[in-house]
Amino acid sequence: MRRKMAAGNWKMNGTQASLEVLDRLKTAHVDSSCDIVICPPNPLLIPAADRCTGSSVAIGAQDCHAEFKGAFTGDTSAEMIADSGATYAIVGHSERREAYGDTDAQVCAKANAVQNGGLVAIVCIGESLTQREAGEALPVLKSQLAGSVPAGSNGANLVVAYEPIWAIGTGKIPTLDQIAEVHMALREELVGRFGAEGGNIRLLYGGSVKPGNAADIFATSDVDGALVGGASLKAEDFSPIIDALATS
Ligand code: PGA
Repeated sequence: MRRKMAAGNWKMNGTQASLEVLDRLKTAHVDSSCDIVICPPNPLLIPAADRCTGSSVAIGAQDCHAEFKGAFTGDTSAEMIADSGATYAIVGHSERREAYGDTDAQVCAKANAVQNGGLVAIVCIGESLTQREAGEALPVLKSQLAGSVPAGSNGANLVVAYEPIWAIGTGKIPTLDQIAEVHMALREELVGRFGAEGGNIRLLYGGSVKPGNAADIFATSDVDGALVGGASLKAEDFSPIIDALATS
């Protein structure tokens, strides 16, 4: 029932020349059974969205300010992101939580702004290695989920990405059993909070997803897709991940 999703987070990588990746993705995945989303840096939002109009590739931002407009130097509002032609925004990525101190409450406010702006919020949560090793992963993740997801969320305006911090950019991933355990717990929380609608909210796994491990991850129960960093920068890496998702 939930449509699968392959989302790519380019982080602070890419220039206008990189947009040829989008051409290759949209040509390779016409009529894809999955939602395909690329989140480039902000200066590329407009050319990326223009380039993908009418294609199977949607565009998203990597963060969004909680306020509609105002004196917030360097920030970008949901209205601006929507105006660029993008339809998604990631909020609460661990790199922003760590480097900019985004709290759950701030992530929730940002996600709320994203949803109110007519965009889909991709809310990221994830435990540190210390928390994982201390056996605290599930309580930490449940608390992040409760604090970061806005009240008005539903399957159409929210996607949750589970991204263990220690798996991001490291080549390490949790065991498939650990991913399944987390996704099952998150699903229970979402259904507990939103009732049947919680069953419509997609749960992505993120952290070192590569062509070589994608099929196994996508075969794991309650994994609706992936949020991909490094392997989304090149079509030859991201395309096989989309193919693995489509056939999962
Ligand atoms: P990675 O990044 O795929 O390069 O590990 C994932 C992410 O940070 O979203």
